[in-house]
Amino acid sequence: MLAGGVSASMRYYPYLQRPFYTARGEGPYLFDNEGNRFIDFNTSNGAAILGHKHPAIREAIIEALDAGTIAAAETYHHQKLAARLCEIIDSAERVRFASTGSEVTSVAVRLARHVTGRKKILKFDGHFHGLTDTFLYRRDESGAVIPSAGGVPEAGADEVVMSAWNDVDAFDAMIDQQGNDIAAVILEPVHFNAGCIPPIDGFLEHIRSRTSAAGIVLIFDEVLSGFRVRLGGMEEFYGVRPDLSTWAKAIANGLPLAALTGRADLMEELIPNGPVAHSGTYSGHLHSVLASIATLEELSQPGLFNQIEEIGKGFYSQLQDTFDRHAIPARVQGMGTRFGIYFGRTEPVTTVADVQNHDHDLNRQFYLGCMDRGVYFHAYTHTGPPGHAGFSLAHTDDVLGEALNVMDSVAADIARGRN
Ligand SMILES: Cc1ncc(COP(=O)(O)O)c(C=O)c1O
Repeated sequence: MLAGGVSASMRYYPYLQRPFYTARGEGPYLFDNEGNRFIDFNTSNGAAILGHKHPAIREAIIEALDAGTIAAAETYHHQKLAARLCEIIDSAERVRFASTGSEVTSVAVRLARHVTGRKKILKFDGHFHGLTDTFLYRRDESGAVIPSAGGVPEAGADEVVMSAWNDVDAFDAMIDQQGNDIAAVILEPVHFNAGCIPPIDGFLEHIRSRTSAAGIVLIFDEVLSGFRVRLGGMEEFYGVRPDLSTWAKAIANGLPLAALTGRADLMEELIPNGPVAHSGTYSGHLHSVLASIATLEELSQPGLFNQIEEIGKGFYSQLQDTFDRHAIPARVQGMGTRFGIYFGRTEPVTTVADVQNHDHDLNRQFYLGCMDRGVYFHAYTHTGPPGHAGFSLAHTDDVLGEALNVMDSVAADIARGRN
């Protein structure tokens, strides 16, 4: 039987005390085993940017099947996809493919440690970079860095420096004190893993200038933010160029593909040209590569990201109105296709500490009420900051309108219960 009843810990739904069992997906919908239909606001943890069962993805997978499901083989398709990524991502001079976001964030840090000859990395509180030992550290109440999960070496905490997102002074203090030992600064350019916490004006530019001056490799982890707000990632949106970037999820619309991109002089330190290890039997699996080529083709339609921005703005402001109308304390923050709902808070959220006291009771009532009426949000946790939500290109105005009606009725019920 499955350990803990799930194949991945984050599939456990704490408000249900079990996973949400899904039978299939189509467009903006998921269907459960009983055939009930749900408007999907999880979209495969953010991977299904085009929606489920997209015809172009289906065709790509059939092409890969017909080629014989070959893994561990280089093809011209890999070259074509790498070339396309270098066209659309400003900082991408070289590309390596892998299967998961966790792999590429770890390889990015390995590269940074090699080229700088330094050991430490600086990461921001709450930013998620995957489940390898490299990143499984957090700060305790006293500010000390400690392992955030069992089995993670305590000694590794000495190699992790942590700072608060959007706190320029705290970041500067860390760089002033330890900059000469820091190999890499890694960050989510928008902290989407805690809903949607954008950088304050000038924060990314400041980090760029301090890391350049201190010889630190700057890594943008675009696994969740990539292909959501701009085709060229958040670096295009903010106009800040990292040294290395990591991509996954929406890059192949749900097929397992990740990419590490960045400066040629760094990337060419990978074996065979340099000494830094990265390989994998399934790296750049043909199914995923062909799905990615198809996904990027769909995402390259002129004007698409402006359209997404407009749809998102309208949807987030209507959702905020819904909560306000029913006097439910909740703040909606979103960019492009991803958003967070902060229950129990009405002020802007600028750092994860703002939502440590997230109102999970209200969150539980809302999510379970929505689920009863055919709208699916995934709860990643029942303590601390909330997780994230999003929509896909298959969520038409009608679908979003239907979801807003459901959310309005759930909010009305919650408000009645509170009065
Ligand atoms: C920003 C970010 N980095 C890395 C990862 C890890 O990616 P994966 O789940 O593909 O290992 C995630 C996954 O949610 C993520 O959101």
